[in-house]
Amino acid sequence: MANTILVGAQWGDEGKGKIIDVLTRQADVIVRTQGGNNAGHTVHIRGKKYVLHLVPSGILHRKKMCVIGNGVVVDPVSLVEEIEGLLQLGIRPHGNLYLSETAHLVLPYHRELDAQRERLKGKNRIGTTKRGIGPAYGDKAARTGLRVIDLVNPERFRQQLRLRIKENNDVLRAYGARPLSFERVHRQYRAAGDYLKPFVANTVILLQEALRRDADILFEGAQGTFLDLDHGTYPFVTSSNTTAGGACTGSGVPPHRMDRVVGVMKAYTTRVGEGPLPTENAEIADLLHALGREFGATTGRPRRCGWFDAVVTRHACLVNGIDHLAVTNIDGLDSLETIKVCIGYRDGDRRYDYVPNDIEALARCTPIYAEFPGWRTPTHRARRWKDLPAKARSYLKALAELSGAQLIIASVGPGREQTIML
Ligand code: IMP
Repeated sequence: MANTILVGAQWGDEGKGKIIDVLTRQADVIVRTQGGNNAGHTVHIRGKKYVLHLVPSGILHRKKMCVIGNGVVVDPVSLVEEIEGLLQLGIRPHGNLYLSETAHLVLPYHRELDAQRERLKGKNRIGTTKRGIGPAYGDKAARTGLRVIDLVNPERFRQQLRLRIKENNDVLRAYGARPLSFERVHRQYRAAGDYLKPFVANTVILLQEALRRDADILFEGAQGTFLDLDHGTYPFVTSSNTTAGGACTGSGVPPHRMDRVVGVMKAYTTRVGEGPLPTENAEIADLLHALGREFGATTGRPRRCGWFDAVVTRHACLVNGIDHLAVTNIDGLDSLETIKVCIGYRDGDRRYDYVPNDIEALARCTPIYAEFPGWRTPTHRARRWKDLPAKARSYLKALAELSGAQLIIASVGPGREQTIML
């Protein structure tokens, strides 16, 4: 398959879990490189639903090497729970799953700080998943983070955790929050450290060995381009690089060993949390929610919904270098008479064909729409390109052309089999 980076081209929740699952068949190694358990990758196999937060979705296939890379922030207790959940489903990750020694830890004070900072922001809150992701990456940048390599060294972990809890308790008290008990946190996280020890590895060396034996590596992106810390709608973003470059820094695989970038996008647009969403629209939100669709995999929150925004996906294709596109959730639009696609923005007299960096300007922008006739036929049974109604094919071709990459996958439902390969 060649080494492939898979990224979300919108605001996350594009259906990456399913596309990764489909592409995993051709891969030997699957790597998570950024984010943490704020991600929720949903995969449906033979009527069973699996939601993975930290473990790469490749674990649902037999004999695939799965790596949680150095760029991920890992809540060890949450990872233990996820592994236990897999064991209950009859999936034994031992021997296939590797956790980077240099991945940073998410600890209870990160979650508590996340919640307190959101509370203090009031109506300016980001709408985070409250998983402690921002404070954990903050500690990494401030060089005060603890890493997996510390977790599995009992004496070092005890010393460093004691210092960090003391310091963070002062901050929590200043926020009016309850301080944490070192003993309790230590006991719980030490146990998680013992549990995870067999999975811990120098994953950079493992991946370099995989490159030497010409293994095909799939880099599983989490969140989406517009949640990227540098390229997203800052400050309404997550705290990692969700764009293609994050796959290199978050794994130790150099750029020249990457062969292609696949972008995943929905046939419409959604966003969870606060921040601008230029094509947000009540009609399409009501329709999708009434169908029981578009509720978050991690938090259960209803997602905000809007028409497809080609300004956004074009930008995503540029900053990620997307070669190939997978469009998901086509069946969500089956009942519509007319479907709109945003092809530019207007802010007063000014027209934009790119996403302005000034978040206030972006919030003022109104979309310029092109209209497409709906196909008004169920598509969930389509298995080949020619099974799709002609109007759906024209719509998909237009999305790819407007975005500037080649369409290779069209997805008409959550199941593995509901996938059209072009
Ligand atoms: P955080 O990553 O929890 O700090 O949240 C920051 C922003 O990213 C919020 O708007 C979240 O809703 C959003 N976010 C984080 N992870 C995901 C995801 O996996 N899918 C969609 N949105 C996400």
